[in-house]
Amino acid sequence: MIQGVGGIAGVDIGSTKTCAVIADTRIGREPDEPLTLLGVGSARAEGINKTAVTNVEAATQAVRTAVSQAEAMAGCEIETVYISIPGAYTKTSRSRGVVAVPGNEVTSAHVKRVQEVGQAVPALPGREMIHAWCQEYLIDGRNGIEDPVGMAGTRLESDMCIVTADSAASRDFSKIVDRSGYRPEALVMAPYATAQAVLNDAERETGVALVEVGGASTDVLVYERNCLLHAATLPWGGSVVTRDIARGLGVTEEKAAHLKHRFGTARRDAVDAKEQIDVSGPGHRVGRRVSRELLAHIIEQRLDEILGLVYEELEEAGVLDRLGAGVVLSGGGVLMPDTDELARAVFNMPVRIGTPSLGIAGVVESVATPAHATAVGLALIGAARSRSGMLVGATRAVARLGGWLREFF
Ligand SMILES: Nc1ncnc2c1ncn2[C@@H]1O[C@H](COP(=O)(O)OP(=O)(O)OP(=O)(O)O)[C@@H](O)[C@H]1O
Ligand SMILES: [Mg+2]
Repeated sequence: MIQGVGGIAGVDIGSTKTCAVIADTRIGREPDEPLTLLGVGSARAEGINKTAVTNVEAATQAVRTAVSQAEAMAGCEIETVYISIPGAYTKTSRSRGVVAVPGNEVTSAHVKRVQEVGQAVPALPGREMIHAWCQEYLIDGRNGIEDPVGMAGTRLESDMCIVTADSAASRDFSKIVDRSGYRPEALVMAPYATAQAVLNDAERETGVALVEVGGASTDVLVYERNCLLHAATLPWGGSVVTRDIARGLGVTEEKAAHLKHRFGTARRDAVDAKEQIDVSGPGHRVGRRVSRELLAHIIEQRLDEILGLVYEELEEAGVLDRLGAGVVLSGGGVLMPDTDELARAVFNMPVRIGTPSLGIAGVVESVATPAHATAVGLALIGAARSRSGMLVGATRAVARLGGWLREFF
């Protein structure tokens, strides 16, 4: 029986839109049941330039709009919010913790301590730790251990992944949520939240690159053997594609975005060369037309360049041969038809579009777009965390979410 009431919201303050997703946190469910999403809301980004907060009041209003929409759909009010922080403000690093195991058998107390030791890294000026999780354990030098409790050995090590965020940016994003009347519970690196919503366990195990093309930037996360191997942010996304269209066709950026969403496609050769589209707007004579092929050409050129830079990033990081499961594309920037085809040609490996669907129930169709993946991931993280605190035995459901139970915020 379901007892209690409540929901938790993930709020993704992106460069083009603010998106809120509410997940059910009621207790009394089966541990294996999917997490139920109750509502989703979205508002045009205000007070954000690229990824920087430029107007707290305007951004606050956008959060209120998005969360109220989600609350209306959910039929409940929320208090607590998990917030994304753009990848550009985050840095990942590795750290090692070591403890002695006196009784020759690892206990959960040793595990807790080795994690604490591993994350006791010197604070960097102007940065704060937002995540620290153990990627794997080592016992007497033997690596690849997922859960060392009960194993024999004398020396336990933790291989920790530490994520820090720019303190000023963290304050700004938290302040926006606080001012909008909700309680900011935790900041989550945006692409990490996306990964929770779109990557499956087999992909993380085999090796996968999550490539999230947003508005202002493109985030890349690489996983293999369930460990985060590499994280990077490139300062280009769908907004440069829009700008190219505006320049190339001599239209406003607003009109360019409209044309891109309505007629855009990522492969020029997939378009009928004779097809024309109306690009007239204020200041133009009515009925101004260009070929749809030209629009596709502009889009293809820029997307190909962005994806090519992602390829170079993966090559430089030396992880190209670790991607057995290929590439998963997400973010609103991959919504144009044939983007996956283009990416297949660039990466020369399997590519799929990552739409949130894993382990969720409820208003699934309303969130089924790569543009909502970050907000869904935030809601999943928030709900799983809140339920694991309340519900003994939630570990299986939580483990499906990528093993973040091993993690501290
Ligand atoms: N239906 C659509 N068809 C094509 N492109 C779209 C569509 N909807 C959104 N986009 C594009 O997706 C991009 C925005 O992606 P997304 O919503 O993931 O970004 P964001 O989270 O606001 O920004 P960022 O993550 O960079 O802070 C924009 O360039 C937008 O034009
Ligand atoms: Mg985004």
